[in-house]
Amino acid sequence: MDRIQVRGGRRLNGEIRVSGAKNAALPLMVASLLTDEPLTLVNVPHLTDISQLAEILAGLGVEMTMSGNGHAEAELGRALTMQARKITSTVAPYELVRKMRASFLVAGPLIARCHKAKVSLPGGCAIGTRPVDLHLKGLEAMGARIELKDGYVYAEAPGGLHGAHFVFPFVSVGASENLMMAASLAKGTTTLENVAMEPEVTDLGHCLLAMGAKIEGLGTRTVRIEGVDRLKGTNYTVLPDRIETGTYLMAVAATGGELELIGARGDTIESVIPLLTSAGVHIAPTNRGLKVARNGAHYTGVEVTTEPYPGFPTDLQAQLMALMCTANGTSHITETIFENRFMHAPELMRMGADITIEHQTATVRGVEKLRGAPVMATDLRASVSLVIAGLAAEGETVINRVYHLDRGFERIEEKLSAVGADIRRVKG
Ligand code: EPZ
Repeated sequence: MDRIQVRGGRRLNGEIRVSGAKNAALPLMVASLLTDEPLTLVNVPHLTDISQLAEILAGLGVEMTMSGNGHAEAELGRALTMQARKITSTVAPYELVRKMRASFLVAGPLIARCHKAKVSLPGGCAIGTRPVDLHLKGLEAMGARIELKDGYVYAEAPGGLHGAHFVFPFVSVGASENLMMAASLAKGTTTLENVAMEPEVTDLGHCLLAMGAKIEGLGTRTVRIEGVDRLKGTNYTVLPDRIETGTYLMAVAATGGELELIGARGDTIESVIPLLTSAGVHIAPTNRGLKVARNGAHYTGVEVTTEPYPGFPTDLQAQLMALMCTANGTSHITETIFENRFMHAPELMRMGADITIEHQTATVRGVEKLRGAPVMATDLRASVSLVIAGLAAEGETVINRVYHLDRGFERIEEKLSAVGADIRRVKG
């Protein structure tokens, strides 16, 4: 199993190109199931989650071609063309779905287009139980008959899905995406209330519009979708990854230095920028993206609670905690989205962090220095928080179970070493 070795204490200087957003690219890929015409996505990041989903889609009959290599010199990453001329299977098997929850998103499009689907229940994962009850309730409201048997969701809607009025009891990114896709091909109008406003959800909505869907209210809590008989193909560019952007902002904040994040969109991290600025980090827009700098002066602790967008994202909570380990003063970080998303804390404590956790809140008392140590990545965002800690620490940090990182951070060691970090992948 590969490991990442980091020798800390180097400042980061230069520029990094931000990749296409994983969590936007995944639902956009699933949208290819909604049409028999080709859907081309540009700026698709090279990540294992993307390959996993490609495998699932291929099993359903989607033909795929990839062009471009996604390297920094290429302006906009790789292009992926998908065509679901004919859906050859409506089954998403356990062996594939269990590896990545986002694959459950195929349920809505399959029922909408083929009037049936058999999709494995994804099961829990390290950060929480993560049920799919809202996806199922919404699809039921649109006329799907659903049965749970042997770990699978069996769904059918013999006459097709129909429009519905569905109010999400709480915000769910995936359920919003699933129902938006299903509603695009349903008969009649669907009104979704308390919809997720995450930029990735809105990005999916814009792609559906380009495919001929009739959607109003994108980017708000109420979305109205008038179903159409068929959708067409299009070319669509995946939005830049706001979580990767926030991660590199925090890396520079932790190490000091100055980075320009090419392609970064400040408007997708509006809750993050003022928080880091209030802590003493300089962030400013440039005509190519965002510039972040911390020179000399140290940064202070913060109070933060994770919330659905536009609040502070749960996917940046671990990275913020790593940064706050060496802040001046104490931080309180409250996680409200997932019940078990503090697994990075014990690993950070192995590096000398002073953290106590009570219920949903971590109290992080800033220490002067972290010290390198062997640590274990437990999930995607937790593993990158250990990279940040390692970059700022004294001595060597070895991060085990790097496959988590490869799910969501494109060429991270390459990008960071190009701006001065001492980081490398150790094979084996
Ligand atoms: C998406 O997951 C992201 N994944 C997650 O990113 C992200 O952390 C999360 O949204 C929150 O922003 C993708 O976009 C592929 P939710 P998703 O449905 O859609 C509960 C990463 O590191 N819930 O908004 O699964 C759920 O358990 C990943 O890139 C139900 O109870 O998240 C959670 O507590 C991790 N029933 C909360 O809602 C449901 O039917 C929010 O989950 C659905 C969700």
